[in-house]
Amino acid sequence: MRAPDSGLPLQFEHTRVEAGNRRILDIEALTIASGAPTAVVGPNGSGKTTLLRIGMGLLKPTAGRVTWGGRENAAATRRAFLFQRPVMLMRSAASNIDYALASADVPRAVRKRKISELLALVGLSDFEARPARHLSGGEQQRLALARALARDPELLLLDEPTASLDPAAAKAVEDILREVAGRGIKIVVTTHDLGTARRLAGDVVLLHRGRVIEHTLSGIFFTQPKTEEARRFQAGDLLI
Ligand SMILES: Nc1ncnc2c1ncn2[C@@H]1O[C@H](COP(=O)(O)OP(=O)(O)OP(=O)(O)O)[C@@H](O)[C@H]1O
Ligand SMILES: [Mg+2]
Repeated sequence: MRAPDSGLPLQFEHTRVEAGNRRILDIEALTIASGAPTAVVGPNGSGKTTLLRIGMGLLKPTAGRVTWGGRENAAATRRAFLFQRPVMLMRSAASNIDYALASADVPRAVRKRKISELLALVGLSDFEARPARHLSGGEQQRLALARALARDPELLLLDEPTASLDPAAAKAVEDILREVAGRGIKIVVTTHDLGTARRLAGDVVLLHRGRVIEHTLSGIFFTQPKTEEARRFQAGDLLI
């Protein structure tokens, strides 16, 4: 159970996004509830990143509603977004996290302890003093995760966090996400890797051309997909 002031569920109602005269997102109804991670899958250009940006409040829908804590245009508090290619400040790993903590108004007196906790959580305790931009791609991704968690989010939105990582680095990120989810933080993750979705997610949203084709429990999605699109997507066929 979440606290009574919880922002969850995140709800999309008749949410449309248009760019130029193209409709790039058209969500009739989608509820992101608390619990196990939600994976958002779909071909390139299906609207995954747009859905996350709308969910974070970084982008306003052209029509319809997105509500967080029952409110439209809610402040982004307690939500954090991990970009596909995170940009680190030209500082040490620790001070990248410190900056995020300071931005979240965490008092100076507790920041040092928080930095150590977050670095330990993402397996970077020994990298504290290293320049963040000299870390490997996988290490930077984990540091970005720690930085996002510094905001103490209730909802963490991640855009393809394992896309450019090798299997071992991807597994390290997955393990951290599992740990984070175990602490009660709701995770929504876009991915092209159905293995990641299968291992991590409690429910799966399949997007195609900006629409939700299927949203179901992961166990059902992978064993008894309801739609032809979901079957074809899982078989690796092109969806057109
Ligand atoms: N600002 C924009 N202006 C015009 N078109 C846009 C804009 N943002 C996204 N699009 C288009 O909207 C569609 C959905 O884009 P989006 O980035 O959400 O897809 P995606 O599922 O994340 O794709 P990928 O798997 O390649 O990351 C694409 O056709 C994209 O070109
Ligand atoms: Mg994308």
